[in-house]
Amino acid sequence: MPLSPAPSLDRPATVSVAPVAPEDATLGRFVRSTGLGDLAPLSAAELAGHGFTAKPAQVITLWSGEGRATVVAGVGERPTLADVRDAAAAIARASGRQARLSLEVPSVSDATAEQVVEALVEGALLARYSYDALREEPQRVPITELVLVTEAAGAEAGAQRGRVLAAVTALTRDLVNTPHNHLTASLLAEFASAYGSSRGLEVEVFGMEEIRDLRLAGLLAVNAGSVEPARMVKLTYRPDGEPAGRVALVGKGITYDAGGISLKPSDGTHAQMKNDMSGAASILAAMAALGELGCAIEVTGYLMCTNNMPSGSATALGDVLTMRNGKTVEVIDTDAEGRLVMADALVLAAESRPDAIFDIATLTGSVSRALGPDVAGVLGNDQAMVDRVVAAGHLAGEPVWQLPLHKPYLRMLDSDTADISNCAAIGLPDGILAALFLDEFTGGVPWAHIDVAGTAQASTAHSVKVPGGSGFGARLLTHLLTGYAAE
Ligand code: BES
Ligand code: MN
Ligand code: ZN
Repeated sequence: MPLSPAPSLDRPATVSVAPVAPEDATLGRFVRSTGLGDLAPLSAAELAGHGFTAKPAQVITLWSGEGRATVVAGVGERPTLADVRDAAAAIARASGRQARLSLEVPSVSDATAEQVVEALVEGALLARYSYDALREEPQRVPITELVLVTEAAGAEAGAQRGRVLAAVTALTRDLVNTPHNHLTASLLAEFASAYGSSRGLEVEVFGMEEIRDLRLAGLLAVNAGSVEPARMVKLTYRPDGEPAGRVALVGKGITYDAGGISLKPSDGTHAQMKNDMSGAASILAAMAALGELGCAIEVTGYLMCTNNMPSGSATALGDVLTMRNGKTVEVIDTDAEGRLVMADALVLAAESRPDAIFDIATLTGSVSRALGPDVAGVLGNDQAMVDRVVAAGHLAGEPVWQLPLHKPYLRMLDSDTADISNCAAIGLPDGILAALFLDEFTGGVPWAHIDVAGTAQASTAHSVKVPGGSGFGARLLTHLLTGYAAE
């Protein structure tokens, strides 16, 4: 089946900077709660009467005599970059039927005008994202023209970066939202190949025979119950000139996670399991933007793609796998499949001795329960790499919180038949155990692991998110890679 319809790659939004707002587009303005006075035509008392206190992302729409709307958003007392990004999203949502929007540019302490403009563009464009490929009527009116009203230096660069970063997130959302029957492992690989090469990446797709030759036992075991072949996609970005560093990325590309023989109950969580390839999607989208953003390091990405299905040929509980690095793994639960496919790619990536490896995966319900839908988890064997992830997440507006890679817990993965088990009993700290399992395959290369199980999906429209795939991680990775050499 073709990947049809394809994700929309060329989003029509034009983003520009101007010293004054166009007369005929909706205007967005930002006010601090501390500086809240009259907002013509409303007096301070009238604003108070409407309950408008300029708390973060609160909006009020003011109409001029000519029928032109000004949407005012609060940014609280001392706005952060995240506050203005969210406020821009709130303005875009409140003016939801207008395709043309202009935004005044507020000042944010500790941030440059370039960063503020970038955040505003992300907020406005992403709040109007919708996945319409498979429906007749679009759900939202996209923004086609966005004007940032400012004379600040750096605004133009920020506007273009914001446009690229929003597109990176939107592409990730498209792929995550595409149902499993439209996005099998081979279709995902085909798309990565066509799109990646159109954006200047080298793309290699590995089929079943090559996966067997490479002894990727984890990917083979997870794929064993499927009628759909697995794929590994290797993407390479090479900067112009001598690279300022070499980084490898590993992404979980489970196109649908039924759990395998450890079949998931047919509930709401299971119903979202087409999103189990979010990590792989975010790597593809971020890497495809590296050329445009002038990334100075060499980046290799491994996307581990298969679904996880139950059948007569599926991997059974208690089966033992011999991984590419020689370690044996007892499969206690076939629903702990992500760590199996990720382990293969970590071994491969570590063999080329990069400066660092970052992996991203919708790996554990445990991290989702611990940190909820807004904050992802990060664990690693190298504090500097963990710190880079946290810093990149902060810049991207994709918050990440570190959990401990507590080595003594490895005892919980002891197996009676193999070197290690893929998981332990329910109730144990699985987010940490999954990371400890992965670290057994990093070969001592500095590594950080990002668990986006909770953040990959949004259930409500808030901040820059709309219900569905969030694209979480794509902007984080883009910041991480483009800022890597500077640190
Ligand atoms: N893809 C899931 C993780 C997940 C769970 C993502 C909920 C989003 C929401 C993963 O493959 C999985 O099934 N993990 C199991 C592991 C368990 C069997 C040790 C889990 O978290 O329940
Ligand atoms: Mn699973
Ligand atoms: Zn999974």
